[in-house]
Amino acid sequence: MSTTEQERESEFAGLGHIMEILTGDWKARILMTAVEVDLFSRLSGSPATAEKICAMLGFQSSGVHDFLGALVHLGLLEEEAGRYRNSQAAERHLIKGGHAYIGGYVRFCDRQLNPAFDGLTDTLRTGSPANRAATGGSNPYDSLYADADVTETFLDSMDLAATPVALTLSALDWSDYRSVVDVGGARGHLIRLLVSRNPHLEGIVFDLPALEPAFHEYLATTGAREPITYRGGDFFTDPLPEADAMVFGHVLHNWGVDERITILRNAYRSLRPGGSVFIYDHMITEGTPSLNRLLSSLGMRVWSAGGHEYSAEDCHGWLRTAGFSPVTSGLPDLGEDVLVVAHKDG
Ligand SMILES: C[S@@+](CC[C@H](N)C(=O)[O-])C[C@H]1O[C@@H](n2cnc3c(N)ncnc32)[C@H](O)[C@@H]1O
Repeated sequence: MSTTEQERESEFAGLGHIMEILTGDWKARILMTAVEVDLFSRLSGSPATAEKICAMLGFQSSGVHDFLGALVHLGLLEEEAGRYRNSQAAERHLIKGGHAYIGGYVRFCDRQLNPAFDGLTDTLRTGSPANRAATGGSNPYDSLYADADVTETFLDSMDLAATPVALTLSALDWSDYRSVVDVGGARGHLIRLLVSRNPHLEGIVFDLPALEPAFHEYLATTGAREPITYRGGDFFTDPLPEADAMVFGHVLHNWGVDERITILRNAYRSLRPGGSVFIYDHMITEGTPSLNRLLSSLGMRVWSAGGHEYSAEDCHGWLRTAGFSPVTSGLPDLGEDVLVVAHKDG
């Protein structure tokens, strides 16, 4: 290599890495567009040529080759003899109605989270969320649930994400408890799995009234027979149902520290003496936090009012303020999530 070539190489070292980061946004946009037009469901079981795909989607043929080629590079499509079919990942996670469909989360990012991320600079300057639906103390879930289509697919994705946690929690010893409330339990996926594996438990979902129809529809479609009920309300202003145990999954990270303490105080009031709270979130662990956790934290900062990820130690402090005694050892590993448990003295 000549000196000039060496100089050029060292001058441009790292440029590819920066371009890779920069175009991440465009790659996500390509995925979101493919999900928006439901390309993967349409190709499932019937691979098609670019011309057929154009006719199917009403696209112009000049751009569609670039679009499909990019999806091949992204590992979402495969091409053979001019026909495009889904990759294994697309077939598993991007087919509408499939049990592992993640399209709801893609659409949530498209409509809500990514537009909020556009305002990250302001959020870092002001500490306020860039998501206008969350400013002035408004609950961003109200605007999310105003769109029925996005709500349904968003709930599908929440269920998918909560399944490994639900299975681990279900395997704990619940023999000391008779009733459990999943606070912010969405349409009841976790509580159904928990009660089906621990049939002596009575399960209650406490969530916003807007999700009650989704809860009943979920029970009907899954054929659930477990004794679970729904209580609609606001965990800031309404008393929580009395119970022996309460679960808060991906709830506290949506709110500022004062609001977290308000929610935990509310839990303390309704929990029976000797009862326990189970909290899980993408908590920031000791050492260098993973990129996923930091992205999740920034996502909460731009989307919700005061939200961000936090450490288990911080959570112990809020629990003590609310009256609880945190448990500090012997808890199971939840993977990306971290579990915190605390008791109300009997
Ligand atoms: C990120 S989701 C968590 C869903 C589920 N627990 C999980 O583990 O993924 C947060 C939940 O909190 C609920 N929520 C938000 N604000 C609420 C409020 N003020 N009162 C009750 N529930 C609320 C939302 O409707 C949503 O179901």
